[in-house]
Amino acid sequence: MTDTQPLILIVDDNPINIDLLLNILKDEYRFGVAKNGAKALAYLENNKPDLILLDVMMPEIDGFEVCAKLKADQCYQDVEVIFITALSDAKYIAQGFETGAVDYITKPFKAAEVKARVQTHMSLKKMKEALNKQNIILEDQVKNKTAQLQEMFNATVGGMALMAESRDPYTAGHQHRVAEYASDIAKNMGLPDDQIEAIRISGLLHDIGKIRTPVSLLNRPGKLLKAEWELIKTHPAVGFKILKQIPFPWPIAEIVYQHHERIDGSGYPRGLKGDETLLEAKILAVADVIEAISSHRPYRPALSIESAFNEVKSHKGKLFDETVVDSSLSASKNNHWETPPAAGPIKNEQTEEAEPEMYSATNSNRQRNFEN
Ligand SMILES: [Fe+2]
Repeated sequence: MTDTQPLILIVDDNPINIDLLLNILKDEYRFGVAKNGAKALAYLENNKPDLILLDVMMPEIDGFEVCAKLKADQCYQDVEVIFITALSDAKYIAQGFETGAVDYITKPFKAAEVKARVQTHMSLKKMKEALNKQNIILEDQVKNKTAQLQEMFNATVGGMALMAESRDPYTAGHQHRVAEYASDIAKNMGLPDDQIEAIRISGLLHDIGKIRTPVSLLNRPGKLLKAEWELIKTHPAVGFKILKQIPFPWPIAEIVYQHHERIDGSGYPRGLKGDETLLEAKILAVADVIEAISSHRPYRPALSIESAFNEVKSHKGKLFDETVVDSSLSASKNNHWETPPAAGPIKNEQTEEAEPEMYSATNSNRQRNFEN
């Protein structure tokens, strides 16, 4: 007998039965013996057998009760129980299986049958354990691969955002801040995590269409010619075309397409009204405007976050969704939004020469203030 052999606990108040079972199984297993239910439970406090051969009719605690106690304890749920009893009525057999036993042998038993059944359940238990181990390994591998893919996905999105922003140092970080503001607003509105993630990704990529806008237009001081302004206004559609190729699990391309729409229909490129615009795009629009107003641009100075809020508040319900505007105020307080640091190679003569533009949320050339 070696320590690696499976351990069987025999519980029976009849010593003759115990001896019989020991005799039948002695070559392949180690044994524990208990002469009643209470002693079986006491044995289990310090030992964990692989299988229990359990008599039913015993004084004080019967076999059904022992089995029920065992199956209610998480530590012992995987210990297999086979009832060996003189109770041959179908209702007892059913009760035995309902209590959690894997088998039910009636007395008087045949040696070969007991041996075969014990072997079968030991093999099944081994296979179950191997399967559980394999499942744990697979779960770990899936977890690691998912984390790797998530990391790669985040890096790819970050890289795409950087690609758009690197053409215009003045707007460096704009998309990241918009993503952060928009996520904070969405959280404040109590949106589900999945929708918040869609908003975050859309924020990071919302101006990717500016990859096709000439750099000279992005940061040139002063007003733009009508044709130049029309060129800038193509960036949501360009972004849509780029992003619709990517099988995101969210409508990222559509959200980006809509981020300059306004609820009164005065936005671009399609002049969508009210609920024709996705909630995600309405959130992005408010975050975009607040960030743009509170950031420095070569064609106009930065204003404070408070001024940015005053601007969106003054257009609440007209250009911007009321709930989104209200949530942005709470989100900014809860998350301590601050005016971002000035970015880009700011030249004094450029900003001084440029005629300071007034901030306006309407979709005219003046709204260039909000472009970024
Ligand atoms: Fe934009």
